[in-house]
Amino acid sequence: MTIRITRRAVLGASAAFAATPAVLRAQQIFKDYPFRLGVASGDPSPDGFVIWTRLAPDPLDQHGGMPMAPIEVEWEVARDENLRDIAASGTALARPELAHSVHVEVAGLEPGRPYWYRFNIGRERSTRGKARTLPRVGASIDRVRFAVAGCQHYEDGYFTAFRHLAEEDPEFVFHYGDYIYEYRSSPLRIGWDGRPRTFVRAHEGQALYDLGDYRQRYAQYKMDPDLQMAHAAAPWFASFDDHEVENNWVGLQDQQDTPPELFALRRAMALQAWYEHMPVRRSSLPGQNGIADYRRARFGGLLDLHVLDTRSFRSDQPCDDGFKTVCDGVRDPQASVLGEAQERWLFDNLQNGGARWNAIAQQVMVMPLDRRTGDEPEEIRNMDSWGAYDVPRERLLQQLRGKNAVVLTGDEHQTFAGELRTDAGEGEAVAVEFVTSSISSGGDGADVRNGADRIAARNPFLKFTGDRRGYTLCEVTPENWQSAFRIVRSVTTPDAPIDTLATATVPAGESALIVG
Ligand SMILES: [Fe+2]
Repeated sequence: MTIRITRRAVLGASAAFAATPAVLRAQQIFKDYPFRLGVASGDPSPDGFVIWTRLAPDPLDQHGGMPMAPIEVEWEVARDENLRDIAASGTALARPELAHSVHVEVAGLEPGRPYWYRFNIGRERSTRGKARTLPRVGASIDRVRFAVAGCQHYEDGYFTAFRHLAEEDPEFVFHYGDYIYEYRSSPLRIGWDGRPRTFVRAHEGQALYDLGDYRQRYAQYKMDPDLQMAHAAAPWFASFDDHEVENNWVGLQDQQDTPPELFALRRAMALQAWYEHMPVRRSSLPGQNGIADYRRARFGGLLDLHVLDTRSFRSDQPCDDGFKTVCDGVRDPQASVLGEAQERWLFDNLQNGGARWNAIAQQVMVMPLDRRTGDEPEEIRNMDSWGAYDVPRERLLQQLRGKNAVVLTGDEHQTFAGELRTDAGEGEAVAVEFVTSSISSGGDGADVRNGADRIAARNPFLKFTGDRRGYTLCEVTPENWQSAFRIVRSVTTPDAPIDTLATATVPAGESALIVG
């Protein structure tokens, strides 16, 4: 006998849940509030954006406390913050295949304005989020103001900086990755300064390997109220770096010489969990062969934002990875950071875009920094950065020349600002780079990191360094690009105030930085 469950006749039919692909309407099936992971919006276009939530009344449970059946969720998008003037609404399915996440690609909205959104199931309502459509393509706009953030190790510190970011009301957020860290809970770690690190909270579970592991880690991070505030405040352009999968992975290679066909399985599960928890479009859904998540957003004629993937298509790190003495591999003419297709896509965009400014929004540092902090005889570079890929880096720099290009980077857990010069940093300045610190990774940091003076002396293209946690707030006009390095002095104590460490200005038409 086949039992058919209509939407109204769900309750009491739990025995049939497993066998019947019914769509459940979910009034009373939750044992707790289903929107505990908050809401998010992302990937705006001139006529819409993605709105996201994930139903998880019991977030750390294997399936978030959800029955293994699709659940219908209502959504609404309004022109006003009280959600009275509804511009669009509908229903979406939260499917067990995607951990009951919901990604609605809202369309048909007006360009260049804010909207507010919410999800509902029966009487349960999510918190309200604020999103924003992009301006019309080519529109003349005089300003865009946005934040850059990433690297949020949960154990290392509170996400207080995210709360301040939300309060700044940016138009959007670029997240450069390390949204989660894949490690198990750390009993003890020694910091850069040689002292034991303080952990303010602990990861649940072991190191992440399978889909359930990654889902649980996202759920743990997403319960953080400061992170939820930052998502609710503005649409994000989410990208990933290494720790969404495993430290310093590239392509199908991890750091433990796992057979590539096995690492491919772990990578696929990690990227599925990333997709499930990020407000990204269906085009970023990973498949058996990886993910296509590089994309462009255009802010009228003022700014083109090129969001890159510097992990999936990269050739293996030279010189055995890590901070190493430069070896021949750094000059390998076959090496690649973006892979052929992404590189061609980016260079075409740069050649044909025509925007006043180009932001290259990506993960690892482009400046080929000499990392020597002592009397080491030979140059040391970070082999996991563009600094270890001389040929692709010079190719990129040639394309950035004359494009008012600003590279936005993370990964380093420090602030760096400098000029991007050709010929391994010794030639002509063709662009600038802002490396944003971290939300919490690395712990409190210091006013000056050990060896910072040596790094500055050996790298004259580097104009500023800082070792506190925070984010970057960028304000772009036709005349200037201004980046304020916003920092908190402590992430190991709650509620630290926000401060500006320094502000760097790039005048249009010049690849130079004025730091004040
Ligand atoms: Fe990181």
